[in-house]
Parts: sequence; C-alpha cells; structure tokens
Amino acid sequence: RALLRRLWKGDASARMLHPRLQKAMGAYLRANKHGVRFRGRRAAGRSRTELLCALRGRVQVRTLDGTEPPFSALGWRALVPPVPLSRLFPRGLRTCAVVTSAGAILNSSLGEEIDSHDAVLRFNSAPTRGYEKDVGNKTTLRIINSQILTNPSYHFMDSALYKDVILVAWDPAPYSANLNLWYKKPDYNLFTPYVQRRQRNPNQPFYILHPKFIWQLWDIIQENTKEKIQPNPPSSGFIGILLMMNLCGEVHVYEYVPSVRQTDLCHYHEPYHDAACTLGAYHPLLYEKLLVQRLNVGAQGDLHRKGKVVLPGLQAVRC
Ligand code: C5P
Repeated sequence: RALLRRLWKGDASARMLHPRLQKAMGAYLRANKHGVRFRGRRAAGRSRTELLCALRGRVQVRTLDGTEPPFSALGWRALVPPVPLSRLFPRGLRTCAVVTSAGAILNSSLGEEIDSHDAVLRFNSAPTRGYEKDVGNKTTLRIINSQILTNPSYHFMDSALYKDVILVAWDPAPYSANLNLWYKKPDYNLFTPYVQRRQRNPNQPFYILHPKFIWQLWDIIQENTKEKIQPNPPSSGFIGILLMMNLCGEVHVYEYVPSVRQTDLCHYHEPYHDAACTLGAYHPLLYEKLLVQRLNVGAQGDLHRKGKVVLPGLQAVRC
C-alpha cells in the first residue's frame, strides 16, 4: 500500500519492493543476459514535455521489413505485410485503449469505457469472453511475445484469440540488435511460426517488432531513472503503450499503474498469484510505470479509482 501511494506520486524505489523481488532484480543485473551496455546519459528530472519530446525524437516504431540481412536473403520483403504498421490507419486513431492483463482489473466495470475507444490493444493470451463487463470485448491489436507463438499450450495457429486482429510479435534480441545473431539464437524461435502464419493468412496484418525499437525504449527508461534498471527488455505493456502513442491522438491505459484494486493476482484470467507480475522481476516494470506516471495528463482520481493513465499521442506533441 505504501509503495502504491509512492507509485501514484511518482517517487517509488526498488528498495521498497519485497526482498524476494529485490534479489531477483540483482540476479538479472549480474547475469546481463542480453549484453546491455548503457551508453546514454542520465537525465533525471525532466518535465513531462521534455520527456514527451525525448520519446518523440528518439523512439521510432519499427518492424522487420525484410530489407536487412538475414531476412533480405530469406525473401522476407515479400513475406511481411505490404502496408507497414505505421500506415495501417491513414486517417489516424483519435483515442485508444491499452488494456493490461493485471488481476486488478477484475470488478472494475471498465468494459464499456474501454470499448468506446477507436482502437483497443490487448496482450498475449488475455481473453475477453467471460470478462466483458470489466475488460470489454473489442480487440483491434494484440501484442504477443515469442512464447505465445512457440509454446503449444497457446494454440497460436488455431485459437480465435489471434484471429481478426492486428498481431504484433516480439522477442528479446541481443542489445546490439544484431539481426544475424538474433536469427540464429532467438529467445524463443518465433520466426518459423511467423513465416507459417504469414503464408496461411496473408491478409492478416502481422508484424515482428525490430529489436532497435525495443532497446530504444529501454534506453529511454534507463536514461530517466536514477536507479540501475534490469538489463532486460521492457514489458509488452510498455512496448504497447509506446506503440499506441505513435498511432493515436490520445491513449488511455488501464491497470498498468495499479488502482486501489491492486492485487497479487497476476492475470485477471487465471488463478496465479505473484507480485512480480505487477512490480517486475525480469522486466524493469517498476521503472516503466514510474515513467508512465510522470507522463499522465489524466485526473489523479481516475488513476486511483480506475487505474487509468491518459497519455498524449506523440504526433501532436510540439517540441
Ligand atoms: O503478463 P503479460 O505480459 O501477458 O501482461 C501484459 C502486460 O500487462 C505486461 O507486459 C505488463 O506490462 C502488464 N501487467 C501489469 N501487471 C500485471 C500483469 C500484467 O502491469 N499484474
């Protein structure tokens, strides 16, 4: 509870986390599995406008377009969707909802509000069926990590969850963003199922995020945080928020920065409890959330009661 209040105010620290989570963070820092080397400069204390300008100027949404090796030699130019993700909505989207999978969204009755947006982004295997009252039932885009494509328990090729939506997949690549290294040794081999799905469903917009985009986001989080953050990619949630800030005029994010309903229930759709899902162990979640809190232009009451953060789209930001 004390941590939650500090998070709402934007001055929480990893030292406030449960010792178990602090230990896990330390282990990830020592392991540095993805070879992260932060070369930027810390710029703590930036105003909201300065932060938005840094995001606008430095973060470029990129997906694999088949022009770079090894993908160029593998014929990916003809494999990827002909229309880039950034041009899927030529008239732009006015307001968008980002719906995290946190257990805290249960009993929120946010479904109707969520569905009123022009586009709704959901994550991984989060369902709507049976949870409409709290999470709504409209899904425009789904961000999926590489485990969704590779672990048979998700039934990626058959499940209705992944049909009739725009799919955006990602996998933790080396920090160097060396595509040859990544292709040889992805965290989970998403490339084979990607090719398979593109061939079977050529009309479904389906993209893989470029590792440069993912690590640009990491750099920005570290740059604007006083503490040393986990050297692992940001969560799908943070990736999705930044994607939507690029596509939409305004982004409403639900239960990312937790509401008063905060709970250890990891996901609203399964009975598994772990505080790491909300506060982070592998992902630098606490720091992602502190950054997003600093960008919030919504009412503080909406943050507390709804777990809602309102973010301006980056196109309209004047720098
Ligand atoms: O667990 P999963 O990655 O599928 O959840 C989607 C996103 O929702 C996460 O990447 C994270 O940003 C957010 N989330 C959260 N708190 C939770 C569960 C998920 O902030 N308890």
